[in-house]
Amino acid sequence: MAVRKITLIGEDVLRREARKVKKLDKELHRLIDDMVETMREAPGIGLAAPQVGISRQLLVLCEPESDPVCLINPEIVEMEGNAYGEEGCLSLPGLYASVPRATRIRVLAQDCDGNHHEIEDHDFLARIIQHEYDHLQGIVFPERLDVLTRNALLEEWSAMRNGMRQDSTVTT
Ligand code: NI
Repeated sequence: MAVRKITLIGEDVLRREARKVKKLDKELHRLIDDMVETMREAPGIGLAAPQVGISRQLLVLCEPESDPVCLINPEIVEMEGNAYGEEGCLSLPGLYASVPRATRIRVLAQDCDGNHHEIEDHDFLARIIQHEYDHLQGIVFPERLDVLTRNALLEEWSAMRNGMRQDSTVTT
């Protein structure tokens, strides 16, 4: 297993709809293992394949105190309710916002052995799945915010990035 580099907002792979997984081969299993390790190391509670630069319909989740779960070719087939909750993203590190999401979802997906499942989730887990599922459609969470909040967040992000660049100029 290896920790992979996490892509950041603005990178092309995060803006594209990811391609369906067709073959569950050794390479895909290696990718899943690497994604789990990358998520744990970050640390994060969910990670989508485009966040490690791979445009595939695949995401991993880690609920506190349970084994990681892998969803392949997930499809949200039902959504109900609406609530705001704080979210962050490993592709936009250090920034958080309150994001509206459905409170109950039904998802069709394959597990890492290719078996098909229908899953129903509520609240916190439903929120993580919707966030990661968005990554597979080329959507990052600021796009779920109203335009003023989004612009403020992205400005903060640019300022942080510029700050980082200046720091590295000073130290080199
Ligand atoms: Ni994210």
